Parts: sequence; structure tokens; C-alpha cells
Amino acid sequence: MRFLDFSLAKMPSYDKILARLCDTTAPARLLDVGCCFGQDLRRLVADGAPSENLVGLELEPKFVDLGFGLFADRELFKGQMIVGSIFDESVNGPVASLKGSINIVNAAFFFHLFSLDDQIKLGVNLVNLMKDDPKAMVLGRHLGSSIGEERSSPMAPTGKMYFHSPDSFKSLWATISERTQTTWHVNAWLEVTSTHTKGVGESWWTGNQILMLHFEVHQVTSVGVETNLQTERVGTWWSRIFARILQVKQRK
Ligand SMILES: C[S@@+](CC[C@H](N)C(=O)[O-])C[C@H]1O[C@@H](n2cnc3c(N)ncnc32)[C@H](O)[C@@H]1O
Repeated sequence: MRFLDFSLAKMPSYDKILARLCDTTAPARLLDVGCCFGQDLRRLVADGAPSENLVGLELEPKFVDLGFGLFADRELFKGQMIVGSIFDESVNGPVASLKGSINIVNAAFFFHLFSLDDQIKLGVNLVNLMKDDPKAMVLGRHLGSSIGEERSSPMAPTGKMYFHSPDSFKSLWATISERTQTTWHVNAWLEVTSTHTKGVGESWWTGNQILMLHFEVHQVTSVGVETNLQTERVGTWWSRIFARILQVKQRK
């Protein structure tokens, strides 16, 4: 069943993520954005992660309820299950309460729901929820394409879905980095998949193959980046001075 596919557990960094969530001295906090039934969160709990360190965000309250029914853990799950939209920027809204508190974001089958402009907003909003953590990361998967392209789709809230190639996904994160004054390193790759083929025959799908884009996006620390920028600035300043001295000497 599609919504019992534990996609997070198949990612290369899963074991490291699990270890960070279980670390009792400095436990990480993970947000599952668009968590639906929250199966990835339940898998983490089954593998030993304390549910206190887990947050689900889901637009549809009925999916959250169905998740509690499915996993029979309404009393046992001690994390947060927030009903709301990641695009909700209200200062006192439920999403604002997460600001600066998240180390890891799972975004499974989520980015592809939106147009490119909305994906930029989504990325900016996610970065704003994150801690300034050298190990901060955003990871997940969604439908992809060998070239980045926007397609019309009745499945998307705005009628448009942007399907990424690894390169276009890197460009997306370059824009998100610029808008948030942070730096992110993108590792993204495509795989041909035989699952998730439902709806493929519909008119919004123009490709012959179903491609899945997997990604792990790691933060490059602001301290490191700032230090590099400062070094770069000082370097540029000195080269200008040397160039000027040379010019003056040559004129003599
Ligand atoms: C394609 S499903 C993916 C569910 C889950 N992550 C998985 O991998 O199976 C996308 C989910 O995102 C939710 N969603 C859509 N827009 C959202 C938004 N703006 N904020 C939070 N959740 C949203 C939908 O209700 C749906 O449950």
C-alpha cells in the first residue's frame, strides 16, 4: 500500500538520522512535512527513536486521525502532530512555533506537489524552521524528470507541478540559499521506479518512464561560510591594494 511505504528508511542517511534522534545528550528534532498518515514517523519510533523528538505537519486533519487509528498510538505518540500548512506564515500560527527548532526535515513526495515559485517559498519556510546546525539536513524523494520542467496536473493545489532533474533541484536550493542567506549542499539522484505508477496514463504525465528524484540536502554552516566570505573579502581587498601598488610602480 502506497501510504505504508517507509521511504525515509530507504535513504542513505537513515541510520545516522536515527542515531541523532536517539542521542540523549543532544537529541535532534525531525519534522515530517506533509506527513499524511505519519508512517515514516512511526517507522522511526519502531526503530527506537523517542517520539518526543518527532514532529508531523499535515494539512488534512483526517489524515492525522487516520494515522492514529492505523498505528493505534494516540496515547503512546509523545511527539507533535500539527495540523496546518507549511505556507502559513502567520506569526502566532502553529507552524511559527517550530521556528529555529528543527534539525532534520523529511519531505517525502512533497516538493513535487507545487509550482517552482511555491517550491521556493516552501524551501525558504523550511529553512526558517531549522536550527543553525552544521548537521542540519532536508531529505526525501518525489517524482522527477531528466530535465526540470513544470507540468499541469489536477493533483497539484495550484494545477502546476514542477518536476526536477538533479541539476534543477540544485538550482532551486541555490535560490533558497540566496533568499535565506544560508548555504546548502545538494546531493540528488534519479532512479527509475516501478512503484507509484498510478495515474501515469493520465494526460498530465508526459514521460515514458517514471523517474523518482531522491535528495539529501545538507547545510553548510553559516560560521564556515561567513569565515570563507570574510577571507574572500580580505583576499579581494589585498589584491586590489597590490594591483594599485603595481600600477603606481609601473608609472614611475
Ligand atoms: C503525496 S502526500 C505524501 C505523504 C507522505 N509524506 C508520504 O510520503 O507518503 C502529500 C501530503 O502533503 C499534505 N499537504 C499538502 N499540502 C500541504 C501543506 N501546504 N502543508 C502541509 N501538508 C500539506 C497532503 O495533505 C498529503 O497528505
